[in-house]
Amino acid sequence: MKPKAKSKLAKISRGNLGGQAKTKAKTFRFPDGFLWGAAASAYQVEGGITNNDWAVSRMPPAGLACDQYHRYEEDFRIAKQLNQNAQRISLEWSRIEPAMDVWDEDALHHYAHELEFLKREGFTTFVTLQHLTLPAWIAEMGGWASRRTGVEYVNYVSKVAATFGQYVDFWITINEPSVHAELGYKEGIWPPFRKNWLVAWEVFRNILRAHNGAYDMIHGYFPDAQVGLAQNISYNQPYDPHSRWDRLYARLSDWASIDYPLTRTRNDFIGLNQYFRNLRKLWPFESANAVHHPHQLTDFGWEIYPRAIYEVLMRLRSFSKPVYITENGIADASDRLRAGYITEYLREVHRAIGKKVPVRGYFYWSLLDNYEWPVRPSEKTGYEMKFGLVKVDFRKGRRRSVRESAKVYAEICKTNSLKL
Ligand code: FCB
Repeated sequence: MKPKAKSKLAKISRGNLGGQAKTKAKTFRFPDGFLWGAAASAYQVEGGITNNDWAVSRMPPAGLACDQYHRYEEDFRIAKQLNQNAQRISLEWSRIEPAMDVWDEDALHHYAHELEFLKREGFTTFVTLQHLTLPAWIAEMGGWASRRTGVEYVNYVSKVAATFGQYVDFWITINEPSVHAELGYKEGIWPPFRKNWLVAWEVFRNILRAHNGAYDMIHGYFPDAQVGLAQNISYNQPYDPHSRWDRLYARLSDWASIDYPLTRTRNDFIGLNQYFRNLRKLWPFESANAVHHPHQLTDFGWEIYPRAIYEVLMRLRSFSKPVYITENGIADASDRLRAGYITEYLREVHRAIGKKVPVRGYFYWSLLDNYEWPVRPSEKTGYEMKFGLVKVDFRKGRRRSVRESAKVYAEICKTNSLKL
């Protein structure tokens, strides 16, 4: 059963790249008005950010990254050529507010121009207000472990809304609250490197509270605004379906990643970042990462399991909110798996739409190869993982070149459909 899934993926990627004649092609159309784009975050692409918790930590610095702060016109023109009609970017809070209540006019102008440019080029804009980094001064104040951070965050959101909120179509308040809490405060492998389960839970709750504050603040400026979170939601399966402990663990994981956050927050849409299936093994305990996954893996060691996105979407159906897939993608330096990955995941998205899950858009992570938050000692620079539709040559002037898989995705975006 397992090798079959593997060869299917490989075949589809070759097929779409024109390597193999296909018979009996089937077309899967997406709903009219579907949004197609790519996602990125400021610290991972902009370059020159030195004043946030990551930049001042012991993690490898992002440095000049893709230099997108200066090259966004070039990048979004490429996205347009690739037939994308939406872009997800993030704002770097530490640029906008380098110290408490100090507003950097240049940074505010910069983002206003960038978003104005995107609008002018015809993109629907998704703007993340906080994507895994915090200004150094906020981190010093206690980061998300302190309730005060939520107050400062809403103050920053208010400044953004008042200054250039008119260019934002969809607001993503905070990216992946659970990841902040888990990796920064429970596992302690990301800033601020704490390992305290209780603090991690409090951080999660503080982030959800801050989201609600931002939600209200944005709606105060723009009553019809579309505001939501981008949540990292895995498909949780019991490792041993016969074990009641594993089943309980899988259910609890769903509750913590879906029911708890979504019933405690106000949202106009659900943003879904989907990368994982987790096999939950409670007794004897093994972390999801250690559990053997039998399928093909990405360069990151992440399992390729397209059905996961379908299963998560089905769990979101009962919330009756529009769903945007705010991230899904693969680290694949060879570019041999990417087209098949995109195609197979989208086929599962289409299946969920057929079952009445209101999915309205898909953002591939990411347009460019970029800085990837290191999780293992082998990631020494943060530039080992290649997620980009567009390759960036970091040794040769950060030259961009479009990968073959990007053309497959561009065809899907253009025709609003998958042909398999
Ligand atoms: C997500 C993050 C994003 C990127 C991808 C690969 O969890 O939101 O910034 O690193 O993983």
